[in-house]
Amino acid sequence: MRTIDWVDGAVEIIDQTALPGELRVLRLHTVGELVAAIQSLAVRGAPALGVAGAFGVALAARAHADDPGALRTAVQRIETARPTAVNLARGARRAALLLPSGPDAVLAEACAIRDEEIAASDSMAARGADLVAELCGDRPRLLTHCNTGGLCAVVGGTALGVVGELHRRGNLGGVVASETRPLLQGARLTTWELSRWGVEHRVAVDSAGPFLMARREVDAVILGADRICANGDVINKIGTYSHALGARRAGIPFIVVAPESTVDLSTGGGAEVEIEDRGSAEVTQWAEAVNPAFDITPFDLVTAVVTERRVVRLDRGDQMKS
Ligand code: MRU
Repeated sequence: MRTIDWVDGAVEIIDQTALPGELRVLRLHTVGELVAAIQSLAVRGAPALGVAGAFGVALAARAHADDPGALRTAVQRIETARPTAVNLARGARRAALLLPSGPDAVLAEACAIRDEEIAASDSMAARGADLVAELCGDRPRLLTHCNTGGLCAVVGGTALGVVGELHRRGNLGGVVASETRPLLQGARLTTWELSRWGVEHRVAVDSAGPFLMARREVDAVILGADRICANGDVINKIGTYSHALGARRAGIPFIVVAPESTVDLSTGGGAEVEIEDRGSAEVTQWAEAVNPAFDITPFDLVTAVVTERRVVRLDRGDQMKS
């Protein structure tokens, strides 16, 4: 089942706010509905956001064919619905380039972006599983953070796709899903996907990750990214940096799996990226909170970046710009 698709003139998504309790499909007919779904994280994860952005422009192209001003405003609303994952604005802008050719051309481009993400998931799974086997040997025990499965992409996923591939190869020693506070993408979504795939797993509170690594209960950390900067800095869900520090201290690989659509060579380093602040309500109802939704892992803590086209060994001085 696809996380996001274009079905009979509307965008269909799995409503990730309802998981794991209910598998609910939402049909989004308007840009307003799509933007609300992005902002509530009903659809989320960098590759899926790229597809959502492109399908959003397809909705806008149909709704505002005769009103260029309204069309421009709608495209801008989509691009800026969330700030951190580069895929969203990139997907929307790519589809928007086809606006002069009409709504059908825009939709065709959006479907191409969807199909590219599906193909990228397959390549990342194979490439990433090879790299994990090379670095960790047989039956590695992996820790992952946030949700990087089919729910973050269209099908397959990024880092969790690698976990699934190792499982299919009979070469997975275990997987720990870091809970991912405050919205529990790990505890709610990653566990839901792993259960459906028949992969045994355990959940850990986020702060347990580095301790499990220090106790030699984890052989590698594998997770995704919302943006990878030109210098290799990795922007990903808050908590990623702590796991990277834990991995470095324990001397184990820290592997980032993301499609090329997440690599942003126009951003030099993490300090240039707007980190989404999701306000205090998600964290606590009783006091003011600081709630950054992503963090920045400096490139020198990253062993390798795996995309559908390449393995960039940052630990050996490889550059993102090849
Ligand atoms: O706030 P979210 O749930 O959209 O954050 C998602 C992540 O941080 C994922 O790890 C990221 O998008 C990687 S999926 C390739």
